[in-house]
Amino acid sequence: MTDENVDLEVRLEEQEAFEPPESFVEQANVSDEGIYEEFEENWPECWERAADMLDWDEEYDNVLVDDDAPFYEWFTGGQLNASENCLDRHVEGGRGDSVAIEWEGELGETRTYTYEELLEEVDEFAATLRGLGVEEDDVVTLYMPMIPELPIAMLACARLGAPHSVVFAGFSADALATRMNSADSEYLVTCDGYYRRGDALDHIEKANEGLEGVDHEVSDVVVVDRLGDELAHSLADNQHDYDELVADHAGESVEPISRDAEDMLFLMYTSGTTGKPKGVKHTTGGYLSYAAWTSHAVLDIEPEDTYWCSADIGWITGHSYIVYGPLALGTTSVMYEGTPDYPEKDRMWELVEKNDVDIFYTAPTAIRAFMKWGTEYPQQHDLSSLRLLGTVGEPINPRAWKWYYKHIGNEECPIVDTWWQTETGGMMITTLPGIGTMKPGSAGPPLPGIDGRIVDVDGNQVESGNAGYLTVNRPWPGMLRTLYQNDDRFIEEYWSEYSDPDSDEWVYFPEDGAKIDDDGYITVLGRVDDVINVSGHRLGTMEIESAIVGVEGVAEAAVVGGDHEVKGEAVYVYAITEDGYDEGDELEERVVEGVLESIGPIAKPEEIIFTPELPKTRSGKIMRRLLEDIASGNELGNTSTLRNPEIVDDIAAQVEND
Ligand code: WT7
Repeated sequence: MTDENVDLEVRLEEQEAFEPPESFVEQANVSDEGIYEEFEENWPECWERAADMLDWDEEYDNVLVDDDAPFYEWFTGGQLNASENCLDRHVEGGRGDSVAIEWEGELGETRTYTYEELLEEVDEFAATLRGLGVEEDDVVTLYMPMIPELPIAMLACARLGAPHSVVFAGFSADALATRMNSADSEYLVTCDGYYRRGDALDHIEKANEGLEGVDHEVSDVVVVDRLGDELAHSLADNQHDYDELVADHAGESVEPISRDAEDMLFLMYTSGTTGKPKGVKHTTGGYLSYAAWTSHAVLDIEPEDTYWCSADIGWITGHSYIVYGPLALGTTSVMYEGTPDYPEKDRMWELVEKNDVDIFYTAPTAIRAFMKWGTEYPQQHDLSSLRLLGTVGEPINPRAWKWYYKHIGNEECPIVDTWWQTETGGMMITTLPGIGTMKPGSAGPPLPGIDGRIVDVDGNQVESGNAGYLTVNRPWPGMLRTLYQNDDRFIEEYWSEYSDPDSDEWVYFPEDGAKIDDDGYITVLGRVDDVINVSGHRLGTMEIESAIVGVEGVAEAAVVGGDHEVKGEAVYVYAITEDGYDEGDELEERVVEGVLESIGPIAKPEEIIFTPELPKTRSGKIMRRLLEDIASGNELGNTSTLRNPEIVDDIAAQVEND
């Protein structure tokens, strides 16, 4: 490194606050600091700003109805259709020739859909689904990787008023079955396979295996021929080739169904503390307006932009910020099928350069991988089209933030570190890129209109500098409305910790720990429940544990998250064998197999440690904290309160040796 470069590194390392560049501020969608006060003073009417981003078939009567809190209702009386807002209105507004989706497959093939073309595809697939009998309010399950048919199917469902439930393609057959069962979903759209690092992966086999576990009749399965082998797989009687079916509806259009603002747009399953995934219900009016508003205010998206969010549509980030938010704003959304290091580690930057990407939104785990690979990869490309960078999914450490700022943004792009969740529908805590000072590692203040606080166990706000629990003390339009067919669990999971129902005070608890500084900037520290965050993906430790104790030969298991350089957290398994079973490689393999089968490769254990006992308190509770410290290689605290302190050294020694 030259002296000049060393100086730069040192300066960056010490710098704790960054201002957005003037050139960005001048063109920002939101650059008036007064917006915070304006939202405060006009709450909840301020949310009309979000609703105004959409076209409504019927104007709403009330912004917020809170009679039956925490079952809040937003924009009641209003009617709209999400697919019309994402497609028709842009075409009718004369922007039919603008590109809606710029797709690139892993092997390098591309597909470009203008708004007009996308509308045509959505119309035809909506007609196809209707032809199969799909009616308003039927839940349609979509089990597809990052291929254009996924957003097409989502928007086709939205057009018909049929909520979609997208199941991440990396999830296992069991996970698909659980979700279809929970939602009583009778329709599935899937595909034959897809590419990963150049290899064709089978997908239909997994889908079929999942279908075997569905406890009700599945009327129809539509299969996209992604591999181009004319579906060499044999299709069952109720299974249809996507292209063939759609050909029968060529040129047809479907009148978008006017949905009530509070009607369900989609369901998205996510992990919680207990074993069963939760079906998060999002609505048409509140969710869509919130996705559009945050895309406008935080991602600074303009119709002329080319915007790229590198998440998978199988997660909420892809729903809100690849599909609904960007398309509602009429921008060009880039969609990439594959992995970031195929064929080379510069694939992302090649895509940025080729498409002149203006805004790039990714996860800290990806940034840590880019850092590890080195600066030579971004340096091979012209990244000067970029004007804004974003991150989401987990805390970002200042070092990764600064690397991203310097080596991707060339110190010219603001970074928004956006905290939110599947349940919140959209971003909640982040700086506004045209306003706020950025502090690496700290997400920033709550967005205008969002009442985020850091409280102690009693719900009292903590002094700045102290750690506590994050709460949201007022509702917002993008919030989940309930857990599908489980209102009780909805209250129990999110509203029981800090609310005071007697005085009708409802406080949302996201189960994250956080701290706050003198400027009101929030640093999110991570989950405080039994959920771990592996590469920005949320996994329930109980879910993994129940998969493992289902393996023959395992008597008991504890799963915790341990620190991991790239993944953030990784899955550590501590298991006790059943009498008569050996703790050898064979059992280890079967444990891995069990996890893959019940959840998928994202939950694959980093390490499996067999032990004769788990460290337990005198009352018999597993000391998870201690297991986490062992996994992370942290110093171990006091173990004297354990019933079996001697076991700790044994386990720790094993982890070190592995
Ligand atoms: C959990 C939600 C929101 C889409 C991706 C994940 C963690 C998310 C941040 C951030 C620190 C973050 C939290 C949250 N998280 N964004 N910017 N800084 N932590 O959605 O699967 O619902 O997970 O991800 O722990 O509770 P999700």
